Amino acid sequence: MTENIFKHPSKITHQKNHPSLVLWFTGLSGSGKSTLAHAVEEKLYQMQYHTFVLDGDNIRHGLCSDLGFSNEDRIENMRRIGEVVKLFVEAGLIVLTAFISPFRTDRDKIRQLIGTNFIEIYCDCSVSACEKRDVKGLYKLAKAGKIKQFTGISSSYEKPLNPEIIVNTANQNIDDCVNQILAYI
Ligand code: ADX
Repeated sequence: MTENIFKHPSKITHQKNHPSLVLWFTGLSGSGKSTLAHAVEEKLYQMQYHTFVLDGDNIRHGLCSDLGFSNEDRIENMRRIGEVVKLFVEAGLIVLTAFISPFRTDRDKIRQLIGTNFIEIYCDCSVSACEKRDVKGLYKLAKAGKIKQFTGISSSYEKPLNPEIIVNTANQNIDDCVNQILAYI
């Protein structure tokens, strides 16, 4: 598909006075990815960093509104997000992403695409803990068979093997998790 299409290189590389970075939050639905991404963003913003949060629930209302939750659609979701993240990195931003991103291969592909500035943050929270909170009421529906292919219930989640950061969102409070992430970066 890229036959006869030529890339145009840009002479301008670094647009900000700080390095670009990807903070890739992964974990089950309800494991705290979005909450943490926004909380970390707030801190970084206060420190004058140029940040942007990409959130699964938001992106699925726009760029990925044609995608569902089959394995193929989740893979395509990740491919698109990976390319968007790469553009934000080229623009010099600190990008914080909150996607379940259940498959290791897809996360690793994005890591390869981005390079050294990719920090994987595993929001470690068991299915039973997420189910107990069930903020959006989705686990209840999934258990009742009303939502198909639900991550952790009827669709798999592959934990990262070597993430840069693991936050124990089942037991640690938000502030502790935020401080742990800030201390790392
Ligand atoms: S991903 O698996 O493709 O990375 P993504 O992060 O974009 O998922 O979207 C997950 C969000 O969609 C969840 O937080 C939840 O609110 C909602 N959702 C709706 N249906 C499902 C489902 N079958 N599995 C997981 N999440 C779902």
